[in-house]
Amino acid sequence: MKKIAITLLVVGATIALSCKKDKVTTDLDQELTTSLTASSPTGSLGHYIMPASDDYANLPNQDAKNPVTAAKAELGKLLFFETGLGVHPKYAVSKETYSCSSCHVPSMSFTAGRFQGVADGAIGFGDHGEARVKNPAYGGSEVDAQGARPLPTINLTYVTNALWAGGFGSFGTNVGTEDVWNQDTLLAINHKGFEGLEANNQRALVVHRQFMDRQIADSLGYKSMFDEAFPEIPENERYTIKTTAFAIAAYFRTILTNQAPFQNWLKGDEAAMTEQQKRGAVLFFTKAGCYNCHNSASLNAMRYEAIGVNNLFQSPYDVFRTDVYDLRNFGRGGFTKREEDMFKYKVPQLYNLKHVGFYFHGASKTSLRQVVEYFNAGVPENTTVPASQISSKFRPLGLTEDEMDDLTEFLENGLYDVNIERYAPNAVMSGYCFPNNDPQSKRDMGCE
Ligand code: HEC
Ligand code: HEC
Repeated sequence: MKKIAITLLVVGATIALSCKKDKVTTDLDQELTTSLTASSPTGSLGHYIMPASDDYANLPNQDAKNPVTAAKAELGKLLFFETGLGVHPKYAVSKETYSCSSCHVPSMSFTAGRFQGVADGAIGFGDHGEARVKNPAYGGSEVDAQGARPLPTINLTYVTNALWAGGFGSFGTNVGTEDVWNQDTLLAINHKGFEGLEANNQRALVVHRQFMDRQIADSLGYKSMFDEAFPEIPENERYTIKTTAFAIAAYFRTILTNQAPFQNWLKGDEAAMTEQQKRGAVLFFTKAGCYNCHNSASLNAMRYEAIGVNNLFQSPYDVFRTDVYDLRNFGRGGFTKREEDMFKYKVPQLYNLKHVGFYFHGASKTSLRQVVEYFNAGVPENTTVPASQISSKFRPLGLTEDEMDDLTEFLENGLYDVNIERYAPNAVMSGYCFPNNDPQSKRDMGCE
């Protein structure tokens, strides 16, 4: 009798204990599920789930002129890193020493590894791009650099209009902006009817002093890959900047952080996130109000909002080719020239930012904790941005220190796909060093 009672007690206690443990997790998972279904535009968790990278049919926002195929994505995966395309440098010494990836380094979540990317006109790499410096042979105004921190080229299938100001792309948010497409030769491409990535990449190849033709495709070893990727395009148009841009766009659409803990949690693995990450996620989708702007599967939005951050020229860093007159300081308004768009920037995606180290378009913050503190305080740091432009959703949040810790942990690790370098190639067809091929970079990367 006594023995049975004790056994029952032990069994009962064990059940109570295990229930308790499960119940805590379940409550938090349930709370997160509830907040997600409330914030999801479709009312379903599925809204936040990214497709598999090879699930081509389900990659959103594809260009009807350039549907994703495996052959294109494979070609783009090499061309994006191919230093052999760098044949139009300012000075011959830099020929074939830089690539798109000079400013979009995979181990830095496809940003530059520094506050500003510099391709032609710079030398060196360090471990992740942080040690790249101007080549003394170049004047500061002669290097290829832009007046904003590079956007990460990840999760781009959720981007219909490229750049912080959204200037590239004929559709999406650019419908109705046709009047400004002739303001410079770069934007005129929007008249041809391309999605943001296809338009951006064609112009980026020119801006970043690269080129492609049949001779280059052949000599670097890409001709047969172009033939496989673009069989429907006549041979005399097959090896061009346009097809190079198309291949890179297809590759971009496959770079998805679909193995991040939050993604795995959404797909049903409740153990994929820690309790702290789950608490941070709940805050993101409730009290902290982040979802009011960041609310797609990549947590970006094709919208422009002003939160009053400083510009790159105002930073303490040694930056090139930007100053108080830079159009990039005016955000969307620098492109549309409309008063209501001034100082508004595209709502960026939020995955894999942990290692980026420089946040916002002007690199004014150096940690995600600082970013969270900035949103919590709700006070614009850039006093030249008129208060009337600042989003009404940018306001003091009243988060506690613990809540800010939780939110930071969700951003840093809940949204971090540790295996992002699976999207980088092991080698490019030319056999050259990449993403850079100058003597210092080669030494830094152990290419020689
Ligand atoms: C010199 C550095 C540099 C090089 C080289 C470079 N980029 Fe970028 N990239 C940037 C910067 C800076 C931005 C953000 C600029 C802005 O929005 O005003 C950017 C933004 C982008 C975007 C927009 C992403 C988004 O979310 O809207 C795409 C796409 C892109 N780059 C593709 C490329 C391709 C393709 C190449 C090679 C042809 C390339 N980049 C080469 C610096 C560079
Ligand atoms: C009013 C809309 C809005 C809200 C609300 C908002 N964001 Fe943002 N967020 C933006 C915009 C716009 C940018 C880019 C601003 C810039 O660089 O000029 C941005 C940038 C960021 C960045 C930097 C990304 C990068 O690549 O540098 C992070 C991180 C971020 N937001 C996280 C959050 C978090 C966390 C919250 C909630 C506490 C939040 N955001 C709330 C609009 C918003």
